[in-house]
Amino acid sequence: MNNKIKIFKTQDGSLGLYDVELNEVYHSKYGAKTEAFEKFIEPCLILNNKPLKILDICYGIGYNTKTALLHFKNIELIDCVEIDKELAIKSFEFDFSKDINKIIKKNLEKPDFINFYFDDIRKVIKTLDKKYDIIFHDGFASYKQPQLWSEDLIKQIVLKMHDNSIYCTYNHSKPVLAALHQNNLFLGKIKKDSRTIATIASFNKDLIKNPLCEIELSCLKTKSAITYKDKDLNLSNEEIIKNRKKEIENSKRETLSHFIKNLKNKNI
Ligand SMILES: C[S@@+](CC[C@H](N)C(=O)[O-])C[C@H]1O[C@@H](n2cnc3c(N)ncnc32)[C@H](O)[C@@H]1O
Repeated sequence: MNNKIKIFKTQDGSLGLYDVELNEVYHSKYGAKTEAFEKFIEPCLILNNKPLKILDICYGIGYNTKTALLHFKNIELIDCVEIDKELAIKSFEFDFSKDINKIIKKNLEKPDFINFYFDDIRKVIKTLDKKYDIIFHDGFASYKQPQLWSEDLIKQIVLKMHDNSIYCTYNHSKPVLAALHQNNLFLGKIKKDSRTIATIASFNKDLIKNPLCEIELSCLKTKSAITYKDKDLNLSNEEIIKNRKKEIENSKRETLSHFIKNLKNKNI
């Protein structure tokens, strides 16, 4: 592991990673394994009896794929995308079921039903020619790495979904919800102790348990929901952030605080 990445123990005892330069965790301090189950696997258990094709975007050390292998009965294939190959190679050094780690190791050496794409998701996404039943999207925070959350990348990801696919992410920021919403997906909240911890999206509204309410959807029309733009999928994070800031400054949209103030005035 290169020395800009540190290992730390999360609250469920599993190990997580922290990127010192980016000042960004790869895994929740509340539990790396718990996070994988609660935010990515549990919301998709509704599909468990079907043969599943899964796309794991931002594989990291593979908690999402490994947890999927533990819980889903009928996995047909998993395509994993990760820019840092070293992480995947080291991934089976992290404590997980020995059998699962063995499967990962075997597939890394000679892909059977798990394929690894070690490159920028922005390049890989256009080369994938399948529709997936489940998509995990687990990039770093969007305000730090908007390359992974632009409306343009999200549009490409959504093209890999069929009518009954489920898309999952921990991200529930407004620009990301807005980018998903503009692709006509139904959006739902994954909740824990009445807090929203993640997002689920599908073209099939029957697969969405806690849909966003009208007010939450209206918030997506405010300035704070202006999406990240990366038309040709080649801008730097800094350029994307700078362009969005300019777009917000020039936008005639209502601000979120004004929208909320109006709601309070109307006693809603
Ligand atoms: C939040 S971590 C993901 C954690 C991972 N799901 C796990 O279970 O360990 C984000 C990951 O995105 C990867 N990444 C960053 N930029 C990327 C890009 N442009 N394309 C693909 N992966 C990228 C990072 O190397 C990092 O492993």
